Amino acid sequence: MIRNKIVAGNWKMNKTLQEGIAFAEELNQVLCGKTKCKIIIAPPFIHLSKLSKIFDKTSISVAAQDCADKASGAYTGEVSAAMIKSTGASCVILGHSERRAYYGETSDILKEKLRLALLENLTPIFCIGETLAEREADEQFAVVEIQLKSALLGLSADDFAKIILAYEPVWAIGTGKTATPSQAEEMHAFIRSVIEKLYGNTVAGQTSILYGGSCNAKNAAELLAKPNIDGGLIGGASLKVEDFTAIINAF
Ligand code: PGA
Repeated sequence: MIRNKIVAGNWKMNKTLQEGIAFAEELNQVLCGKTKCKIIIAPPFIHLSKLSKIFDKTSISVAAQDCADKASGAYTGEVSAAMIKSTGASCVILGHSERRAYYGETSDILKEKLRLALLENLTPIFCIGETLAEREADEQFAVVEIQLKSALLGLSADDFAKIILAYEPVWAIGTGKTATPSQAEEMHAFIRSVIEKLYGNTVAGQTSILYGGSCNAKNAAELLAKPNIDGGLIGGASLKVEDFTAIINAF
C-alpha cells in the first residue's frame, strides 16, 4: 500500500518573522524542489501568510499549529480555520500534547476543531500519545485508543482519509529520550489496527502515521525504516535547516 511519506516541522513558539523568512529561503535553496517526501512546516500563526508565499509550493506545505474551536465571533486572541486557510496554509496540527496539557484541550474541543478544519479543507495533523506515567502503568495502548476514538469517532471514512496522524509519546517530546524504533513501530501498528476496525483495510492502509518525540538526524533513519512509520513530526530538530534536511535525507 502506497502511503505519503511526510517530514513535518513544528516550530512551536520559536522564530521571529525575519528568522522564519531566512529559514524558508535557505530550505528552498537546499531542496531545490527535489524531495521524495512531502515536507510540511508549521510556523507561528503570524508568519503563515508571509511564509506561505515564500516556501516553494512544489515541495513544501505550510501548517498552522492549532485552530479555534469556533468558526468566528467574539473570541479574543483566537484564530479560525477559515483565517488559516485564507493565508495560503493547507494543514493544521491539532491535539498536540502541549495544547492538551497547558491549554486544557479535551477530546470534545478537538472534535470541534477537527470538524472546522475539515470544513475549510485544511489537512489535520492529529496528535496522540501517552505520558510516562501511563506507559509505566502499561496503559499506553488503551490511552492512545481512547484519544483516537473519542476525537475521531463520527467522522466519515472520506473525512478520516484526509487526516494525518502523529504518534508522539509525551515522555519523548523535547526530552532527548526517543521511543526505540521497535516501541514506535509497535504503537504505529496498533494505531493502524484500530483504524482498520473503525474504517476498514483500505483507509487504514492509506493513513500516514508520523512519529514525533526527540526525532533527530541521528535516529531518524532507523525510525523511518519501520514499515508502519510514515514520517516524522519534528520539533527541536526542525529549527535549523541543516538538522531538518538531514532528517529528510534519512528517508
Ligand atoms: P521534539 O518535539 O522533536 O522537540 O521532541 C516534537 C513535537 O512536539 O512535535
